[in-house]
Amino acid sequence: MQANDLELWQQKAQAQTELALERVLPANHAVPNTLHEAMRYATLGGGKRLRPLLVLAASELGEADFTAVEQAMAAIEMVHVYSLVHDDMPAMDNDSLRRGKPTCHVQYDEATALLVGDALQTLAFDVLSRPANLPAARQLKMVAVLAKAAGSLGMAGGQAIDLANVGKAMNQAELEQMHGLKTGALIRAAVMLGALCCPNLNDDDMVRLDGYAKKLGLAFQVIDDVLDCEADTATLGKTAGKDADNDKPTYVKLMGLADARSYAETLVADAVSLLVPFGGKAARLRGLAEFVTARKN
Ligand code: IPE
Ligand code: IPE
Ligand code: MG
Ligand code: MG
Ligand code: MG
Repeated sequence: MQANDLELWQQKAQAQTELALERVLPANHAVPNTLHEAMRYATLGGGKRLRPLLVLAASELGEADFTAVEQAMAAIEMVHVYSLVHDDMPAMDNDSLRRGKPTCHVQYDEATALLVGDALQTLAFDVLSRPANLPAARQLKMVAVLAKAAGSLGMAGGQAIDLANVGKAMNQAELEQMHGLKTGALIRAAVMLGALCCPNLNDDDMVRLDGYAKKLGLAFQVIDDVLDCEADTATLGKTAGKDADNDKPTYVKLMGLADARSYAETLVADAVSLLVPFGGKAARLRGLAEFVTARKN
């Protein structure tokens, strides 16, 4: 696929994500208005929307139900945004900039930021369980996939490992586990959710897709570590150099910038190789994998 084909598709899918989120988030004037305003502040008008794009790209492999796909796109992005709002709070990474704007707790206050995270997370499951043209058992499976990915054996667990290892050295296996959980779990869930919207994919397809997503998720966080060192704050839209400042365990700390980047590139190449049996239908998934290492923020 041509690079600008993917770019156009990305822009369209980002606009679709924005619209889906706009529709499900309560209005600014709904009581309690500060909480709703803060939820919309944190969620709308920013971010690469990689996870909803992965939902959409995976859904292109089969005969997906459109309503279910859009619900999954909004749901996974809301869980992701909740994770960012909490990640930035003083008790975690203590960051003041996110997506080019003051972080939620800076713009509002810490209690509001906590509640924004809580409310976005539960709204995600509310949205995911709304009527769609899928068998109920499928939808239930989608709820379970997202719940597991967000929980203590997924994203939240990875965040706990991250915080427990500030100032400590981790070996590659430990880092891989941490990155696989704190970031990889939601990326895997995104691909699974998109695939689950297609009743015609078989077990082998699912296993292959999960292999792709696992490698991609790890590569994504390795590049996040690289960009934290390499890029500037204006490009990132979040504070550069934060990992070193906070003495975080990262792939850059373990293997240096160049090796971390080439490790991510190897992971992406492995991920893409798993898509071969899907042929042309996997073009977007292939493009998104390449975007993960080419991105500037
Ligand atoms: C940042 O995620 C946090 C990580 C999990 C590495 P993204 O880089 O996807 O952030 P946005 O959504 O584009 O802002
Ligand atoms: C964040 O990892 C992972 C989650 C938010 C779950 P980071 O702490 O590296 O993310 P950034 O760099 O602040 O976006
Ligand atoms: Mg963090
Ligand atoms: Mg952080
Ligand atoms: Mg980071």
